Amino acid sequence: MKNFIVVGHVAKTTPDFSLEDIPGTSGRIDILCRCVTAAFVLSHGIRRDVGVYLVLLGAEPSKIIYLQGTELKHLNPDERTTAALIKKALAVEATQEWSKSTPGIFVRTGGFAELVESGVELIYLRENGSDLRGVALPDEPVFVLGDHQGMTEDEEALLEKAGARVVSVGPVSLHADHCIVLINNELDIRAANTNVSELKDN
Ligand SMILES: C[S@@+](CC[C@H](N)C(=O)[O-])C[C@H]1O[C@@H](n2cnc3c(N)ncnc32)[C@H](O)[C@@H]1O
Repeated sequence: MKNFIVVGHVAKTTPDFSLEDIPGTSGRIDILCRCVTAAFVLSHGIRRDVGVYLVLLGAEPSKIIYLQGTELKHLNPDERTTAALIKKALAVEATQEWSKSTPGIFVRTGGFAELVESGVELIYLRENGSDLRGVALPDEPVFVLGDHQGMTEDEEALLEKAGARVVSVGPVSLHADHCIVLINNELDIRAANTNVSELKDN
């Protein structure tokens, strides 16, 4: 299982945004939708071994939405369908415990600190980090990405305190969803190479 955490600094925490104008009315939930697509959607199917935490910080109380590939249903490649799923999750009465919205989608109140402090091994994606291709990754990596605003100094301090490693997918600043595609691709290649060496060993 690999997880992605994406922080939406201005993302609405209530469902009162328009599916006809997602970028203009939702606090850039369109960015989060594209990250969800990049994380899960394959040519013919869904990556079941992926989870995505969306941290929505645009209003108090802040919220976290978790999409879990093993159970996820109703996800299509288009942004509008994903935004509609997020809208449904935001309509659920959220508490500090996870509540289920639709299959594979859960919501709770909370912010970035709750996720970072949960004790998992974090990999923070930043342009000037170590090259992803040369970095050894844990079996269950958790990748952290910013939105169009990047990450704040306070969030970076939390990541540093949690021992996050800083990793780059390349020298050019990309959109977060494009980074996710590159990470998935790198992990696909590593998994394929591992399978080949296992076949050779047997
Ligand atoms: C659009 S970028 C943020 C740009 C923002 N203006 C800034 O200055 O941080 C969104 C996120 O993608 C990730 N990112 C973008 N390019 C990257 C790269 N080359 N390597 C690693 N992560 C990258 C970072 O997590 C970043 O916060």
